[in-house]
Amino acid sequence: MKIGQKMEDALNSQINAEIYSAYLYLGMSARCTELNLKGIAHWFYVQAQEEMTHAMKFYRFVLERSGRAKLPAIEGVRCDWKNPLEMFEAAYAHEQKVTGLINTLMDTANAERDHACASMLNWFIDEQVEEEANASEISDKLRLIGESKEALFMIDKELSLRIFVDRTQPTGAAQP
Ligand code: FEO
Repeated sequence: MKIGQKMEDALNSQINAEIYSAYLYLGMSARCTELNLKGIAHWFYVQAQEEMTHAMKFYRFVLERSGRAKLPAIEGVRCDWKNPLEMFEAAYAHEQKVTGLINTLMDTANAERDHACASMLNWFIDEQVEEEANASEISDKLRLIGESKEALFMIDKELSLRIFVDRTQPTGAAQP
């Protein structure tokens, strides 16, 4: 069934929001590289890649339902973060905001009786639990270590191990 106009518009806004998320995390990755925190830079880079897979999942859905993808400008992001704690706190706040957007999309899908869209959105409802938890846990750790440079380098090492997995695909194949 062709997607309704209201749902199409709402999903197009979400494509933009997910690409904005990728942009936000890419800016954080760049800043961490400047700060010589290569492991945390890698973590944010992988996060940016994941956000693009979220955007593409919405994009594919709109086209599959014979909708039109509109691709307005992506807003610029901050790249002058003070330290990783400031970045992860902002990431956590951002993910909470995204969870709100996904919940509103679900409300729209239910109001429009678009069950296919609601089913697709269930994946994002689950994903947001993890998105928030990741940013919140790392923020907590960074608050805990305070000014310890040694502990920061250990966290940098730990976060360098993150592997990009496209969870929007059934196989979830790991990629370099
Ligand atoms: Fe696509 Fe981080 O939510």
